Amino acid sequence: MDTNQHSQSKTPSIHRALVRRLIYTALAVALIVAIVVTLLERQRIVDTVVDRALLRTAQFNQQHQALLDAYDGSDRAGLQHALAQLANNRLMERAGFFVLAELYDRTQTPIGEFTDQGFDRIDAVVNWIEREQRPIPAAGEYFKDGFWIDSRPYIHVATPMTSSKGDVVAYLQGIYAVSRAAGSDLNQRVLRAIVMVIGIVLATTAVLYPVILNLMRKLTRSSANLLDSNLEMLQVLGSAIAKRDSDTSDHNFRVTIIAVRLAEAAGLDAGKIKSLIKGAFLHDVGKIAITDTILHKAGDLDDDEFRIMKTHVGHGLDIVERAAWLKDAAPVVGNHHEKCDGSGYPGGLDQQSIPVSARIFAIADVFDALTSRRPYKEPFSFEESMQILQEGRGTHFDPQLIDMFATIAHGLYEHLAGRGTDDLRTELETITRSYFSVDSEALSI
Ligand code: C2E
Ligand code: SIN
Ligand code: SIN
Ligand code: FE
Repeated sequence: MDTNQHSQSKTPSIHRALVRRLIYTALAVALIVAIVVTLLERQRIVDTVVDRALLRTAQFNQQHQALLDAYDGSDRAGLQHALAQLANNRLMERAGFFVLAELYDRTQTPIGEFTDQGFDRIDAVVNWIEREQRPIPAAGEYFKDGFWIDSRPYIHVATPMTSSKGDVVAYLQGIYAVSRAAGSDLNQRVLRAIVMVIGIVLATTAVLYPVILNLMRKLTRSSANLLDSNLEMLQVLGSAIAKRDSDTSDHNFRVTIIAVRLAEAAGLDAGKIKSLIKGAFLHDVGKIAITDTILHKAGDLDDDEFRIMKTHVGHGLDIVERAAWLKDAAPVVGNHHEKCDGSGYPGGLDQQSIPVSARIFAIADVFDALTSRRPYKEPFSFEESMQILQEGRGTHFDPQLIDMFATIAHGLYEHLAGRGTDDLRTELETITRSYFSVDSEALSI
């Protein structure tokens, strides 16, 4: 077999499969990284914004320390004015701004309240805080929390305000709207990260691609060599017995071609046809153990001789079961002389128990034996041979398969008549290649 031709013809599909694999992997990696980066960046922005909001409340405490120190429950106007200022410095902050602020004293009595009526979503924000019914923070408590309205983020904070002596005198609760600028910062960072990740993954893929392709080529080549060696072993073993039996491999080549065509007509799957091909090549390999006086006897075998001849099935199984790659041949080797009425050998199996590949093969084998010269017989004509097969319909042979064979037999007979050994080998190699390929044997990528 021409090994190079074998592996090169497989390269384009391996190339395509590899590119497909790498692209899928790159996209999957980019997607996962994009999700992780988005989550991390979002958390980072939220943390930044929360820090800004808390900083603003601390500044409020500091800027209005005098008012807070002086607060005695009666003078609220100063603090109310201060609240409005807190919420009114939008332009100064990149992170965001308070759109709602409430001040309570230690007895949870409202001191003042401000809502930014200029903010377009203010109604939704007010609704949220009413629906939410956050308890006014108790002494010593503060909290911060993020929430979304119409896919815009807000931070809800509540912090204690202390006097200059450090006593808690009031609580500030506010809703801080994250600015559009902060939102687009987030989008930009995520976008930049995704573009970078895709770039890195693609660059890595591009660098690795020739390396992987080269490895795949080597692997393919060695797999192709191995497959070719196995197919050669099949042919060598089959030819070894043919040398003793009839001097040429023609019978092996023809029965394999006939059996595959019948199997295709019967709709067998590719896996079973592969096993059938191996079995067809090796069906009589056990005849190697049969003495020449019986194997080459010109006349009929007597009972003792036929009993010995029948042992070729068991010898054949012994041989094929020794190699993992040949084990597939066992259903045909072990059952090719079984008959549907249970009168065959070695098992006397009935039709249901005979593997379909062996039932198919038996038809091919007997058809070719009948139409060929044997040491013990002259060839029968096509019509005589078909007549003998018909007589075995339902007793020797599977009736459905015989009917199927009847529709293709003449075409096959004409097709194979007078063909030389090399010609038959070439045709069989084509058939074999279509069933045994490196892709399906070794590299299921
Ligand atoms: P084989 O020559 O390859 O024949 C395979 C099968 O084809 C035979 O299996 C039989 O089912 C069928 N077959 C072959 N020739 C005829 C025939 O003239 N008439 C009919 N009706 N069927 C035929 P089987 O009988 O189990 O034989 C297995 C092997 O035993 C044969 O393989 C052959 O090597 C040997 N053998 C069978 N009969 C004789 C014989 O009369 N003389 C000698 N020397 N060998 C025989
Ligand atoms: C075989 O042909 O490998 C066995 C399949 C069957 O049991 O029909
Ligand atoms: C071989 O030629 O290597 C055996 C298998 C075949 O005939 O295709
Ligand atoms: Fe046989």
